[in-house]
Amino acid sequence: MTLEVTIREIARDYPLQRARSEYDNWGETAADAQAMEIFRWLIEAKISGAWIEVGNLSAHAAWYGPTQGSKAMNIGITLIEEFRNKGIGSLAQRLLAEELHRQGYVRVEASTDVTNIAEQRALEKAGFLFEGTLRKAQGRADGLHDLQVWSHLS
Ligand SMILES: CC(C)(COP(=O)(O)OP(=O)(O)OC[C@H]1O[C@@H](n2cnc3c(N)ncnc32)[C@H](O)[C@@H]1OP(=O)(O)O)[C@@H](O)C(=O)NCCC(=O)NCCS
Repeated sequence: MTLEVTIREIARDYPLQRARSEYDNWGETAADAQAMEIFRWLIEAKISGAWIEVGNLSAHAAWYGPTQGSKAMNIGITLIEEFRNKGIGSLAQRLLAEELHRQGYVRVEASTDVTNIAEQRALEKAGFLFEGTLRKAQGRADGLHDLQVWSHLS
């Protein structure tokens, strides 16, 4: 049976169903991060004939210089646990990369913990390419973590 997945943009404060993982245990949020503009999408899948919420995506700008051509979008994803490992994560990230390319962004990137094999596999299936490792790039409640960076170009 074909897996049907759609994404739709939602407000930042949309009441999402709880979808957490070990990679979301942030600890205290930095004051400067409150100002960061974050865009969100709901992921819905057709399960037994009905469209239901299965997770969410986010994106924020990553600037590599002061020009429009230096602006990439960095995306993130979390699925509700029961909907993981069914191919939804790779499909949803491909859909978001295509949507952001339609909006004019050439570079869509995703960074993921070096230990997050499921996300690395999902990104590869979504057409992203592995570019390298960002050392000690992400501080979470339990300390600094190395991230892999992947990209999807239009
Ligand atoms: C990461 C995540 C988005 C991936 O989405 P998904 O729908 O589960 O991914 P897919 O089913 O498309 O692909 C996952 C692949 O990883 C594989 N996989 C999962 N866990 C694995 C593991 N521990 N070791 C090796 N492979 C693993 C699956 O077998 C599958 O590969 P296959 O299709 O070749 O069999 C989802 O699992 C999730 O929400 N996890 C928690 C939150 C998270 O980690 N978000 C990313 C933070 S950057």
